[in-house]
Parts: sequence; structure tokens; C-alpha cells
Amino acid sequence: MTQQIPLIDVKAQYAPFIPQIKAAIDEVLENGQFVFGPNVTAFEEEAARYLGVRETIGVGNGTDAIVLVLNALEIAAGDEVICPAFTFYATAEAIARVGATPVFADIDPHTLNLDPERVAERVTSRTKAIMPVHLFGRPAPLAELAELGLPLIEDAAQAFGSPEIAGVGIASTFSFYPTKNLFGLGDGGLVATNDEGLAERIRMLRFHGSKAKRVFEYIGTNSRLDEIQAAALRIFLRELDGWTVLRREAAERYRELGLGDACEVPADEPGHVYHLFVSRSPQRDEIRAALTEAQIGSGDYYLPPLHLQPALRYLGYSEGDLPETERAAKENFSVPLWAGIIGEQQERVVATVRAALGVPA
Ligand SMILES: Cc1ncc(COP(=O)(O)O)c(C=O)c1O
Repeated sequence: MTQQIPLIDVKAQYAPFIPQIKAAIDEVLENGQFVFGPNVTAFEEEAARYLGVRETIGVGNGTDAIVLVLNALEIAAGDEVICPAFTFYATAEAIARVGATPVFADIDPHTLNLDPERVAERVTSRTKAIMPVHLFGRPAPLAELAELGLPLIEDAAQAFGSPEIAGVGIASTFSFYPTKNLFGLGDGGLVATNDEGLAERIRMLRFHGSKAKRVFEYIGTNSRLDEIQAAALRIFLRELDGWTVLRREAAERYRELGLGDACEVPADEPGHVYHLFVSRSPQRDEIRAALTEAQIGSGDYYLPPLHLQPALRYLGYSEGDLPETERAAKENFSVPLWAGIIGEQQERVVATVRAALGVPA
């Protein structure tokens, strides 16, 4: 019987560390400090050191991380934030949730990240920030976007571990959802910034706008990274660079095996941490059908793209407004990749894709 190859094997990544995770959870149980305990403080320090920023703030999830940054910057109704429509819904949802208007700019068809020229066309007197997404683990063009002179809020949910990100924009936000490159045992998120004043406000906003439980200075929320997540994240953070090496090697192997003869594969770039290995082909549906038939996991992303989602219809976009985004949403597909996928599995993936398109072996 053919062996199934999943799209992502999260368990293969954490399985060797189960004894360590259990010991860390035991320690939390002994300690009894489930909220704002020593692991959260230690993880925030270790993450700041890793990312090369002054401050990090642990929060409940990656969506809240974005909302809290926007709140702390007082971005609200009447303000515009430019972002891609080819990203997970949370990027634009967070902007809309604070009352501001997400303004969508089109993407570069090869990197699938925001195209700085398209962003420049969208700037108005109401633009308060640009929110690039480091999509699928590939750094967005931060230097070019910074030239536009607006604050950059990096949605880095998919790119923890890339040396090219964080600390460039005013703040970067991360998600520790279990399939991410750095992941927790449930939901979790982080804000990273070099701005100490901003960090202080976010630290208060994540706990009801208060420094200590008695005086409440802002309307905030309750969104904290919990102690058990932080204990696991500390273990995984130590493994992250090793995992990133494995991800980059796996990506290189797909290129060497000739996946690129059958479709457009992502070009290698320094700092790409391959959260997902996303290629594109006009025959994406045939390719995915063949992979499913061969019991190989695959994915496709963001169709309909955000400007055509029902909840964002009020923004007034229609089909054809973002041609590269719309084309990418119809053509992209991911193939299996995680830290630990082996050559034989990748050979089967490539052979299946090539066969689906009639590309000789
Ligand atoms: C680009 C992007 N932004 C934001 C989020 C939201 O993160 P979370 O699911 O932790 O709220 C995610 C992931 O889920 C994401 O991929």
C-alpha cells in the first residue's frame, strides 16, 4: 500500500521533544503560576534576543498581536492601512476590527509579496501604515517599502526564524499556531518592537489597559500568552535554527529534483524560511488532483482573495481590481514540506507532479 505523505507533519517535529515538554509542563504544575509566570518572562527575553529587538510582548494569538499594535498606534476609524489581499484573512480583519480601512495593493507575481510600486499608488493622506506580510516565509521587500516613509507593521506570522525580518518596521507580529515555523501547543502570538513606549502600551493593552490590576488607563483586552505555551515555545525556540536549515534544504531538494520543470517554483532567497513551499501553475487543479490520488497532501491559498471575501464586500472591490492577486489565487499550490521530510518522499511528490503534466522523468 502506498504510504501517505502529509502536507505538514507537525508531530514529527515535536515528537523527539515530548519528554522535555512534559518535564516543562510538570514544572508549571508544581509552580502553579499559569498566567504571567516565569516562562512567559523568559520566553519574551529569549525571543527578543533571537529577533534582535529591544522588546517582545507575548499575546493570545497572531491576530490579537496585529490588533494590539494598531490599537497602540491609535490607528482607528478614518485611517487607512495598505496590505495585500493575497494573505490569510486575519491581516485585513485586524485592520477592519480597529475601525480602520484595509486598502489592498497588488502583489509581485513571482514573490507573491506586496509589490512596492502598487503600494505607492495606494498611498493617500489617510494612510497611517503599510502592513507587509512575509508570505509563506519569504521576506517582503521591507527596504523598498520603507522608502515610502510610512510606518511598517510586519505581519510576520509565517516567518519566525528569518534573519531578514523584525526590527525594520515599527513592530512585527507573530503567530504560534501549531503549523507555524515556531509553534506552540495551541494558540499564541507575539509582538516584537524596538520602540519601548509602544511596547509599554501593548503590554498594558493585552491586560485591560492596566499596569497592575487596580488602575485601568486604556480600553484594552485580555490577550496573554499563557505559561504552558511559553514553556513549550522556549524548548522549540532552541530548535528553530536547526529546523530552518532542514526546511531550506528540503526546498533546495525540490528545485534539484526538477519540480521547476513542471511549474514555477519559488526561487531561493536569503531569509526565506519556507513556512510553505508554494509553486504556481495554470494547471494547479490537475496537479492537486493527482497528488490527492497519490495520497500526497497539498494545499492552495486565499481563493477568494481578501478583496472578494463576503465580509469585506463593503470596501467596494470587484473582480479584476487586483489581477496578479486573483491569478495567483487560482494558480498556487503547496507541496509537502516540514523540518524532517526525507528525500524519498520528495521524489514521490515531484514524480507525481511531473507525471500529472506529462513532463518526462
Ligand atoms: C499571515 C497571517 N497573519 C495572521 C495570522 C493570524 O494568526 P493566529 O491564527 O495566531 O491568530 C496568520 C495565521 O494564522 C497568518 O498566516
